[in-house]
Amino acid sequence: MGRNALEGKRVLLGVTGSIAAYKAVDILRRLQDRGADVRVVMTKNAARFVSRLTFETLSRQPVPGVEFQDWEQPGIGHIDITDGIDIALVAPATANIIGKIASGIADDTLTTALLALDCPLVMAPAMNDRMYRNPVVRKNIAFLKGTGVLFVEPGTGELACGTVGQGRLADPDRILETLTAALPSGELTGSTVLVTAGPTREPIDAVRFISNPSTGRMGFALAAAAAARGARVMLIAGPAELDPPKTACIIKVLTAADMSRAVLEQLPSADILIMAAAVSDFKPVQTFPRKIKKQEAPTSIELERTEDILTTVSKQPGRRFVVGFAAETDDLLANAVKKLKDKNLDLIVANDVLKQGAGFGTDTNSVIMLDRAGARTELPVMTKAEIASRIMDKVIELKKK
Ligand code: CTP
Repeated sequence: MGRNALEGKRVLLGVTGSIAAYKAVDILRRLQDRGADVRVVMTKNAARFVSRLTFETLSRQPVPGVEFQDWEQPGIGHIDITDGIDIALVAPATANIIGKIASGIADDTLTTALLALDCPLVMAPAMNDRMYRNPVVRKNIAFLKGTGVLFVEPGTGELACGTVGQGRLADPDRILETLTAALPSGELTGSTVLVTAGPTREPIDAVRFISNPSTGRMGFALAAAAAARGARVMLIAGPAELDPPKTACIIKVLTAADMSRAVLEQLPSADILIMAAAVSDFKPVQTFPRKIKKQEAPTSIELERTEDILTTVSKQPGRRFVVGFAAETDDLLANAVKKLKDKNLDLIVANDVLKQGAGFGTDTNSVIMLDRAGARTELPVMTKAEIASRIMDKVIELKKK
């Protein structure tokens, strides 16, 4: 996204009671320099650090006070204030506001507005380093990240309280960069895309498992491609050593059963499901919690089938666009068509995993996409990022029909 992505965007800037509140003035100016229309909301404690008048003068808009009767008038009511907002930023965000939002507390203008938001929220924490390390604060941040809130980690350095540690409000450039990346844009703005990626692991004992060579690259590339088109992305990943796209929320899972649970939990809010994960088809009937000594190990392991997640999904109420994958070594098309029908998919992406430049662990892939109407699109060997982009184009095209 270019530097001017903020041009004409309506930004809600929440300022809370940290000594770094004065830095919000600079952030406001930078947002305005980029053409954003900024509406500021302050907490009572923020107003003790920087005056409301400063923000009112600079934003050329009334800044609601804390008391409801102060500002509850047509056009700036506590819900109205979030109308038409493209993105919200809380900078600086204190441990207090993080805790309140994580707990669903709405006891002043800012918290009420943040709970009523219908757009991405970015938080830039600033606090004492010991507070930032506090397990409750960590838990609140982790919880909010799981709900899609983006955090700009504070920097390390000398803090206002005289100590040195992590807690300084992040550099304004980094804050604006995250804000820009989180800005909804593109054809999938307003849609939630659920992507699964990577292998699953089915434990045999504490140190051994059944799995497959999937690295998660295709699924992670799809998550990035969906986010680039403005979607809210939930990425459910089995063990993978990749960095998730910055703007996706990641849920890490281990077994097929964990993945199934996570998919079913997220499904009600998903408009599109892309099952790119290489889900293990088998699991040991018995799992040992400790390491089996080799002298005591059985010579064969009894296996049972794991649940087929897509089949379970097809029986769930509600409509969503479902994309499945078919990893094959033989009869690629016939098997893919069968899976499309059996799993009630809207689109299937089939690949021959033995083909040069395709399949597990490579940076490239070559696939054939088949839709319900029987239309077929072949993509030659290209990077997984390009393949992901073409798959998203196809999903958007089919969804419009
Ligand atoms: N899949 C699933 N749950 C499983 C196994 C697979 O939801 N337990 C999904 C995969 O994520 C993929 C599609 O089903 O989108 C097809 O997976 P694939 O491994 O190609 O086929 P299987 O259904 O496992 O069938 P087979 O092993 O017979 O090819």
